[in-house]
Amino acid sequence: MISAEPQPRDGVELLAFAGARLGKRVFELHDATLGIGTGESAKILAERISLNIGPGQRYAVVGANGAGKTSLLRLLSGAIKPLAGHLQTGTTVKLAFLSQHLDELNPKWRVLEAVEEVAQRVDLGKGRELSASQLCERLGFGTDSQWTPVGDLSGGERRRLQLTRLLMSGPNVLFLDEPTNDFDVETLASLEDLLDGFAGTIMVVSHDRYFVERVCDITLALIGDGSIQDLPRGIDQYLELRQAINNFAGEGGAKEKGDSRSDRKELSKIEKRIEKIDNQIVKLQEEALKCGEDYKRAIEIEKELSKIAAEKSDAEEAWILLAEKINPS
Ligand SMILES: Nc1ncnc2c1ncn2[C@@H]1O[C@H](COP(=O)(O)OP(=O)(O)OP(=O)(O)O)[C@@H](O)[C@H]1O
Ligand SMILES: [Mg+2]
Repeated sequence: MISAEPQPRDGVELLAFAGARLGKRVFELHDATLGIGTGESAKILAERISLNIGPGQRYAVVGANGAGKTSLLRLLSGAIKPLAGHLQTGTTVKLAFLSQHLDELNPKWRVLEAVEEVAQRVDLGKGRELSASQLCERLGFGTDSQWTPVGDLSGGERRRLQLTRLLMSGPNVLFLDEPTNDFDVETLASLEDLLDGFAGTIMVVSHDRYFVERVCDITLALIGDGSIQDLPRGIDQYLELRQAINNFAGEGGAKEKGDSRSDRKELSKIEKRIEKIDNQIVKLQEEALKCGEDYKRAIEIEKELSKIAAEKSDAEEAWILLAEKINPS
């Protein structure tokens, strides 16, 4: 079934391959609440998150500092539990998570030993196997430096070793939290190459436009309004959104909380409006199901639906701007 080797990043074939190694379900979040802590002191970062992350999909996660990007990855990894709703994780998921903290390793180990301790060989997709030493080589540990004791490595080299060990574990899901901060240009280039052929699911937290556009296909944004949005135009769209928020803050003096009461009133008006739109959408959808052979009516409903969808997105945009004005981040 996998005899035909796909070209790098041949989306369709990689997906088929990832499907074989990873069931249909990777992560599904149903109406979940992402938060830190419990009870009264819990801090809610995002609510009503419904996400279906499938085999072979490549996500970028963007958002302001402290918006909850790392926490979202931790939620998906099972390290923290949703405060409401639930997470379903595919049974074949084998996750490797490159987080910000370094592994504790025996300082006397040689680089190659530390990598072979994980596995002797790895298949990162496309049926091409690499030995521990070959993977070291690909990630910048030449034959000589493979003999360096771990205790003698610099901080950057240690991060590189950590990445090598993670990849060596043969993951089919890879989480990379801000990888571009720590790696030099060569390591990033080799990582991009390795990821081209990687047949699993990838989630990257990063604002590095080049890396994100090279590696990821879908952009999820935590804009700080409690929602997680899929941005079809990626980082560009994210930057526009941030810019719009900043402009608004500049004009209206949003940093002063002077007239926050009328802002709050306005906010709740918008919320009611959105609720009303949601109800209308449900009604129309129900009607659409019932209209059977009446194509004329079905088309009308379709038109109405797309009209209110646009209204809803305008209302949501206004909500975001206003919420940010009341609570500047
Ligand atoms: N263990 C914790 N205890 C208390 N608060 C926490 C904990 N972990 C995260 N937080 C808080 O939750 C919020 C989200 O943190 P998180 O690390 O997920 O954000 P982030 O988007 O990854 O931020 P950054 O861009 O700084 O990496 C922050 O306000 C942070 O202070
Ligand atoms: Mg983080």
